Amino acid sequence: MKKDLLGLKDLSADEINEILSAAEMMKFVLGQKNKKTPHLQGRTVVTLFYENSTRTRLSFELAAKYMSANAANISASGSSVQKGESLLDTVRTIDAMGTDIIVMRHNMSGAPHIIAPHVNASIVNAGDGMNEHPTQALLDMLTIKEKKGGFKGLKVAILGDIEHSRVVRSNIYGLTKLGAEVSVGGPATLVPEGMENLGVKVFHSVQEAMVDADVVMGLRIQLERQKSGLFPSVREYHRFFGIDGKRLKFAKPDALVMHPGPVNRGVEFSSSVVDCGRSVINEQVTNGVAVRMAVMYMLSRGGKINEAID
Ligand code: CP
Repeated sequence: MKKDLLGLKDLSADEINEILSAAEMMKFVLGQKNKKTPHLQGRTVVTLFYENSTRTRLSFELAAKYMSANAANISASGSSVQKGESLLDTVRTIDAMGTDIIVMRHNMSGAPHIIAPHVNASIVNAGDGMNEHPTQALLDMLTIKEKKGGFKGLKVAILGDIEHSRVVRSNIYGLTKLGAEVSVGGPATLVPEGMENLGVKVFHSVQEAMVDADVVMGLRIQLERQKSGLFPSVREYHRFFGIDGKRLKFAKPDALVMHPGPVNRGVEFSSSVVDCGRSVINEQVTNGVAVRMAVMYMLSRGGKINEAID
């Protein structure tokens, strides 16, 4: 791992495996009654979010606090961004206060990549536009590894709003590097051209994408990013592309049901699928804290796990 974590496109299979191993150790720590560790003692972590978040932002903050860091957060809506301050000036200001790690979410694809070379702090991409959400894919991969034992030959179907999803891109980069076979499925208007070039199979029917899948991952219909006319209505979307108990039968009987959240119940997944016995959506959330602890710990040590995590 380098100074920053900007995406999984730039990481090797070995680097991804190292983060997953560190996250497994962090998960052990999280299972203890006393979750406090000294791994980031004296370090400062700031989360800077230009878009809303529940899971990512809180889990980074908790991860930093569990590792004894000084943790603070800023929302664009409550900061001097509202007075016209640029992203670069905002991040340089946070950097100038001696911050070690800046976790940022921005609506513009590539925003963290532009910022990273200009600051001393490590930048962690917590989601940039429609580009990548690397820690989400890492927590998804940790969950799959725990449940399925590995990735080689595993069939993963990612379904829904492929066009606007940063989660799908990070998962494709990570899962294919570790040997999984990835299919994407959704309406033609929500699957961008050229997805095949990322090494995945493309379907415009969710049933076909799910055939014999070991993992069914739904994606949120990102209503806030839609141009008009991509599908007639959310009701119609669910009718033709939503996953319910009947459609889930196209996957293997023991297929995992995953979703990065937040879920639009009754749109991409029916409530019965969200809450079914094979759903690991809440375990994904739990693993998010472990992954974010691992990432920040490794960044603080120059990317190495060269000290026992206990
Ligand atoms: N999965 C995800 O990024 O959720 P939040 O938007 O709540 O952080």
